[in-house]
Amino acid sequence: MKIAFTKPEIPASGSYVVGVHEDRKLTKSATALDKRTRGQLLAAMAVSRFKGRKGETLDILMPRGVQARRVILLGLGKPADLGSLRLQRLGGALVAHLNRIGETNATVAVDAIADANPTIPTMAAQMAYGAKLRDYRFDKYRTNEKPDHKPTLKTLSFAVADMALARKLHAPLARIAEGVHATRDVVSEPPNVIFPVSFAERCKELEALGVKVEILDEKKMSALGMGALLGVAQGSARAPRIVVMEWLGAGAKADSRPVAFCGKGVTFDTGGISLKPAAGMEDMKWDMAGAGAVLGVMTALAGRKAKVHAVGVVGLVENMPDGNAQRPSDIVTAMSGRTIEVLNTDAEGRLVLADVCWYTQNRFKPVAMIDLATLTGAIIIALGHEYAGLFANNEDLAAGLLAAGKATGEKLWRMPLGDVFDRMIDSDAADVKNIAGDRGAGATIGAVFIQRFVNDVPWAHLDIAGMAWSKKDHAITPKGATAFGVRLLDRLVSDRYEEKGG
Ligand code: BES
Ligand code: MN
Ligand code: ZN
Repeated sequence: MKIAFTKPEIPASGSYVVGVHEDRKLTKSATALDKRTRGQLLAAMAVSRFKGRKGETLDILMPRGVQARRVILLGLGKPADLGSLRLQRLGGALVAHLNRIGETNATVAVDAIADANPTIPTMAAQMAYGAKLRDYRFDKYRTNEKPDHKPTLKTLSFAVADMALARKLHAPLARIAEGVHATRDVVSEPPNVIFPVSFAERCKELEALGVKVEILDEKKMSALGMGALLGVAQGSARAPRIVVMEWLGAGAKADSRPVAFCGKGVTFDTGGISLKPAAGMEDMKWDMAGAGAVLGVMTALAGRKAKVHAVGVVGLVENMPDGNAQRPSDIVTAMSGRTIEVLNTDAEGRLVLADVCWYTQNRFKPVAMIDLATLTGAIIIALGHEYAGLFANNEDLAAGLLAAGKATGEKLWRMPLGDVFDRMIDSDAADVKNIAGDRGAGATIGAVFIQRFVNDVPWAHLDIAGMAWSKKDHAITPKGATAFGVRLLDRLVSDRYEEKGG
């Protein structure tokens, strides 16, 4: 689908979309169109349930007095609620509607709202962003789909007088959407296509955007002493990788302390010798969604040329049972020098992050380090598919993340850390064990384990197990890989770490 910004005119073909606020209050464009069609809009509303509530639509086919073949009334809800996120969701809902009805091109009239904030070009840019976010489908392996079932929309235009400004405001948002799509692409791939080496190759593509990409192979990792990550990888026929992606935006100094993102990239998690049950195991193809989000946020930052120093580090392994796999009760030595008793080989994400986080803080001394991981089933029990779990050792970082979550709709809920939990992973045989004795506070246990490897840098852990994949369509996120974390972290960067102006 192509996005365009065009002159405010009624289109000569396709659909013409005009907004209606709650309680059937017509926008300026809708009022003008109603007049031109001699009352067709009001008449159509009168015989329908359409009230102008957010996201509602009403199609008027073959309207009189205009060349467009269809008029679509789009419910905008209450004017006071038309913030960026609402506008994005309206754009997304509209794309879904247009594809459902088989439209190929549509033009949206964008009207000022009463208090003139946001401005028309901003509204258009945000709606277009939402449209782009919704416009995603992973269908590359569907060779036999009926044309009738495929999405139809080719061009979505936004009619605004200041086209140039709308385009300018939309440009960085389109780059963020590309980051989201990059994440969805990699997370959606099956594990026979995306495994550590092929994932690393995708990261390498970021060089085209000016990102420095460095790949650590097994030899390098064992030289660094990464026994925790390598222990997970040893049961797999596929070699592990760590990828370091560094973005140095204009004005950022090479020797400055970056903001760092670390991702769990288990390209398939069978559980290892602590094998998972067969039912639902296929979901573990997206156990690399944390790493996928890191790839996406680096794509977004570089794409929109963010004035920031950011690094993304992903730990890529496959967790398999095998004659060479690690056993429950194995003791491994992490890069930090601490020994870990591996009591459950299915608690592998924390082992990967132990080395990835230690390495990242040790090498880059980041101002803040945020890890993303599909770490525990327990976080899904606690928060369902509404919030990711936020664990943080720093109040300011936590506040920044919570605010970014509200702004982007990628919601977080703060969860506890603390000594009482930390004590539960003391091991009799080693420095630490990778699970606690019972099943209580499972998500926190995962977090305090990682915390032992972050060495007091301002750190946050996002447990995204419930958020990485959706079984349902949402306004700006079609079902499937959500890319949760990309828009959130891009926003955190622009709120907190990016140099403004210039
Ligand atoms: N990748 C899983 C967590 C997960 C579960 C993600 C469901 C998405 C959906 C993780 O590696 C895992 O297996 N965690 C175990 C930890 C346990 C052994 C302490 C879990 O949550 O059961
Ligand atoms: Mn596991
Ligand atoms: Zn896992």
